[in-house]
Amino acid sequence: MIIETNSEKETFELGKKIGENAKAGQIYTLTGDLGVGKTVFTQGLAAGLGITEPVNSPTFTIVQMYEDGRLPFYHFDVYRIGDIEEMEEIGYEDCFYGEGVCLIEWADLIQEILPPDVIAIEIEKNLEKGFDYRKITISDPEEKKAQL
Ligand SMILES: Nc1ncnc2c1ncn2[C@@H]1O[C@H](COP(=O)(O)OP(=O)(O)O)[C@@H](O)[C@H]1O
Ligand SMILES: [Mg+2]
Repeated sequence: MIIETNSEKETFELGKKIGENAKAGQIYTLTGDLGVGKTVFTQGLAAGLGITEPVNSPTFTIVQMYEDGRLPFYHFDVYRIGDIEEMEEIGYEDCFYGEGVCLIEWADLIQEILPPDVIAIEIEKNLEKGFDYRKITISDPEEKKAQL
């Protein structure tokens, strides 16, 4: 599924809609260049889960947890991970296989421990279509299965 947005607000609202519909145990991966809108999208998703705490990029920790929403929300940024063992040390399995919703930035770096049923979200710019244009591609393996 491809969605095009033309403002920060539209990307936030898309994230919010996804957060409102997110189910316990769901994992989203989020990729895109710096400044493309990953944080905006994540803030929308958190708002959709009913989280009222401010959500920012977890710069100094691999995961930031938010417990005040409809479901727990685990926001991972694995950019600075050196070794996959660091994921074990923070107890990622409790997040991936728990009752919350995970969103993982830079998930390519931990591909070997990603479950197969993650929903992959990619945000891209296209300057030919304007400075605020974003193409958001959502790949849901469940939807692919349904089409077969
Ligand atoms: N369509 C759009 N969707 C999301 N952000 C947009 C859009 N158009 C412009 N922006 C701007 O792009 C920037 C995205 O920043 P941010 O979410 O922090 O990026 P990232 O987390 O990917 O580095 C913000 O300044 C935002 O206002
Ligand atoms: Mg960011």
